Amino acid sequence: MARKTPARKKSRSKKVRRICIMTGGGDAPGLNAVIHAVVNRATRTYGWEVVGSEDGFEGLIQAPRNGKVVPLDRQRVKGIAMQGGSILGCSNVANPWAYPKKHKDCTRYFDMHRTMLKHIEHHGIDAMIMVGGDGSMSMAQKLWELGVPTVGVPKTIDNDLAGTDRTFGFDTALHHATWAIDALHTTAHAHDRVMIAEVMGRHAGWIALHAGIAGGADIVLIPEIPYDVKRVIRKIRSLGGRWSSYGLIVCAEGAYPGGGRISVKRKAGKQVEGLVGHQAKLGGAGEHLRSLLAGKIPHDVRVTVLGHIQRGGSPTPFDRILAARFGSAAVDLVARSGFGRMVSLRTPHIVDVSLSEVVGQPHNVDPTGEIVEVARSLGVEMGA
Ligand code: F6P
Repeated sequence: MARKTPARKKSRSKKVRRICIMTGGGDAPGLNAVIHAVVNRATRTYGWEVVGSEDGFEGLIQAPRNGKVVPLDRQRVKGIAMQGGSILGCSNVANPWAYPKKHKDCTRYFDMHRTMLKHIEHHGIDAMIMVGGDGSMSMAQKLWELGVPTVGVPKTIDNDLAGTDRTFGFDTALHHATWAIDALHTTAHAHDRVMIAEVMGRHAGWIALHAGIAGGADIVLIPEIPYDVKRVIRKIRSLGGRWSSYGLIVCAEGAYPGGGRISVKRKAGKQVEGLVGHQAKLGGAGEHLRSLLAGKIPHDVRVTVLGHIQRGGSPTPFDRILAARFGSAAVDLVARSGFGRMVSLRTPHIVDVSLSEVVGQPHNVDPTGEIVEVARSLGVEMGA
């Protein structure tokens, strides 16, 4: 694999003694398992100290006297790997290049990155391990270009990060979504209803597609395949059987009808050049679909929005193990001075890729790929 070195300032790192880990963006099950692995690998194998920046970059932006950069030792992380959330907290607004501050009725944005660099120096941090999704990886890349030795660990329930087969968190979200679809079957059957399950995933349909197949959905709608509502209606009408004509639709939050628009709840925040910024909040795709079906089918149509349940709870064993492998590999990457890179799963191996290959390269479902073909072969209507 080609090792590309980006144009950057001279790194301040010499010998590594203290590393800092942060969990940026929205949480995903498995963050604590990464922290656990990083602390154990760094202290046991290399004898390094580990500190954590609380609430993503917030810990490093805040003045050191506020105590938001905390020591992490083996005692502190014992027993956390099976817990969801992050003991360090997460933030998808603490952006050092566009740090929001409330001013009267409006929000103003400040460039705090120099303050953050000073604090990194103050805390004696020799290298950073940033755990996050596309936004965090773009900040990791920026930090590295500023001369801070940084490595990335891919996290998101959406599985939409390039450069890796899987992000941790996805498997747990998939379990929750599949469980919910399984549960919707019985009640849908009892009332002959059409149930729409709206799942997360932003602009990628990984959760919807996998959960739709696993949960035996009749229809799966994903952002990568804008749907034709006539096909959805035709499929539902074809479901009539001797005992029941209930139907299950899994609708990704980013799914939309061909020629239509993605359903957005809140617009995107301030964008900074070179960074994947604070993204728009998606939501309402299920309700939108319901409005398009109204009066066109005889069924009572109900919408269940799974929401943050998909991000909550304990990580699955798969996510715990993947997170442990990523955490351990990230520490080894620091030891090898593999900065500006992200650990990655290239099944069955853990490898590393340049952050520049990851940032701004979304990883979407291939509409003509094998997994979509499998869904179609099972009789799943994909909407187009
Ligand atoms: O990226 C993970 C994710 O859960 C998306 O699937 C979802 O659109 C978004 O985050 C929700 O973000 P928030 O918790 O900030 O509303």
